[in-house]
Amino acid sequence: MSALLEVRQLTKRFGTLTALDHVDFDLLPGEVHALLGENGAGKSTFMNLLYGLLRPDSGSVSLEGVSYQPASPKDAVLAGVGMVHQHFMLIPALTVAENVALGDEPRRGFGIDLGSVEKKLAELAAEYHLEVNPRAKVADLSVGLRQRVEILKAFYRRARLLILDEPTALLTPQESQQLFRAVRAFQERGISVIFISHKLDEVQALSGRVTVLRRGQVVGTLTTDQTSPAELARLMVGRSLAPPVRPPSRPGPALLEVRDLQAQGLGPLGFQVRAGEILAVAGVEGNGQEALIAALAGWSRSQGEVLLDGRPLGRLGVRARAEAGLGLVPSDRQEDGLVLPLPVRDNLALRAYHRPPYSHSGVLDLPYWATHAETLVREFDVRPPDRRAPAAALSGGNQQKVVLARELAASPKVLVVSQPTRGLDIGASQFVYSKLLDLRAAGKAVLLVSLDLDEIFALADRIAVLYRGRLMGTVPSESATREGIGLMMLGQEA
Ligand SMILES: Nc1ncnc2c1ncn2[C@@H]1O[C@H](COP(=O)(O)OP(=O)(O)OP(=O)(O)O)[C@@H](O)[C@H]1O
Ligand SMILES: [Mg+2]
Repeated sequence: MSALLEVRQLTKRFGTLTALDHVDFDLLPGEVHALLGENGAGKSTFMNLLYGLLRPDSGSVSLEGVSYQPASPKDAVLAGVGMVHQHFMLIPALTVAENVALGDEPRRGFGIDLGSVEKKLAELAAEYHLEVNPRAKVADLSVGLRQRVEILKAFYRRARLLILDEPTALLTPQESQQLFRAVRAFQERGISVIFISHKLDEVQALSGRVTVLRRGQVVGTLTTDQTSPAELARLMVGRSLAPPVRPPSRPGPALLEVRDLQAQGLGPLGFQVRAGEILAVAGVEGNGQEALIAALAGWSRSQGEVLLDGRPLGRLGVRARAEAGLGLVPSDRQEDGLVLPLPVRDNLALRAYHRPPYSHSGVLDLPYWATHAETLVREFDVRPPDRRAPAAALSGGNQQKVVLARELAASPKVLVVSQPTRGLDIGASQFVYSKLLDLRAAGKAVLLVSLDLDEIFALADRIAVLYRGRLMGTVPSESATREGIGLMMLGQEA
C-alpha cells in the first residue's frame, strides 16, 4: 500500500533549539498512527508543521505522492488535513454551526446559509457517532462536546487525514470511549489519523503503529501489537521507570476542614484532610469539581466553613488564602495557572511577588527571582531550562511543571491540586507523584481532584466521590475497588 503521507528529514529549529531533527515518518491510508514522546519531544511542533502553522527549516513532506508545503492552515485544509489542537481553537460566543462554517460559509443571497451547514453537520454526526446540537453556543458545551465540534469542523472540510493532539487529556473515561468509537469509524472509511497521547493503554487500544520521538528525533516506529508499555516507556524516556511507592500513612490532625460548604452547583458537603494524608476527590467531570476548587481557592462566593489548620478562611481572598498556607494547582493551567506572555521567571514569582524574599519594601528583587527560577527550573526539569522564555512557548506538559513548581516551592500546609498530571509524560507524572508523596511525608495535607482513577489509586489514602455536587461517600483506598468507585461516580451506592 502506498503511503498517504511521507515525511523525510523534517527539521525545525526555534533559535538555538532543534525541536525536530531530521524526522522520517509515514502514514498509510486508514491507519491510526500514534505519536509518543516526553513533554517537549516535538510532537505538537511536528503536527503544527503538517497543519501549516509552522514552516520547516529543511526536509520534505509529500501527500499522496505530491509535494506538500502548507503555508497556512487554509492550505492544509484544502489538501484534506484537519487538526484538533491540544488547546482548543473555537470561538465560544458562536454556535456550533457558526464555528464549523467559519471561514468557509455557504452563502445565500447576502446572508450565510446556516441551514445547510446544520443539515450537513447532522449527517456527519450520524456517520461518525459525534452527536451535537448545531445551534448550541460553544461556550455552553462541555470539553468533550467542544472537541466533537473541532472534529466535525475538520470533516466538514473533507479531511482525509485527521491529527488529534492529546485528544483524551481533557476527556472523561466515558467521553474517551466515545471518541475511540468515532476514531474506529474514521478508520473504516479510509481516513488516516495521527494520534498523540501520553496514555500507553490508549495507544495500544487504538493504533496500528507507533512512532516514538525523543528530543526531536525519531527513536523508533513499531507495530503496536509487537511492543509493550514497558518497551514504549523505555524508548520514550531512555530508561526504565519504577512505579511510585506510597508508605503507610500516619495521619495527624485535620489541616483542612470543610463544613456545610455550599455554592452554585455544590453541596452542602463536608470533609477533612489530615496532616500527612492525601484525600482524592473522584468523580465524572462536571459534578461540582470546579465549584469546589473555586470555593476553596476564594474565587467564588460560598456558604459554610472552611478551616485551614483550625483558622476559618471566611471571606479571605485569593492572596490571603495563599498567605495562610493554601497552595493551588488549578485544572486549567493556561487560564488560571499561568500568565502566558510572561517569562517563566515571573510565573514562578506570581504567588508571592509582593513580599520578601521576592520584594523588599515594595521594590522587586529581580536577581532573587532569577536565582529562584533557575533552581526550580532545574529541580522540576522544565524543558528547555530557560527562565526567560515566555510560558506560552513551553510545551503543554512543561507549562504544567511550572505551575506545580511554583505551588510546591511555597511548601503549603494544604495543597489543593486538580489534575496534576494531565498532559504530563510518564516520567514527569512519576516525578509529580513523588513530589506529592513528599508533601504527605512532610505532614502536609493534599486534596487531589482528579478524573483519573489510576492516579487516584496510586496516591490517595482516602477517596471521596463527588456526584452532582454532593459527596456520595468516602472510602479508604485500601478497601476501595475500581468498580465500587465507578458505581459511586454514577450516583449508585457501592
Ligand atoms: N513557538 C515556539 N518558540 C520557541 N520554542 C518553542 C515554540 N514552540 C515549541 N517550542 C519548543 O519546542 C520543543 C517542542 O515542543 P512541542 O510543543 O512540540 O512538544 P510536545 O512534544 O508537544 O510536548 P507536550 O507533550 O508537553 O505537549 C519544546 O522544547 C518547546 O519549548
Ligand atoms: Mg504538545
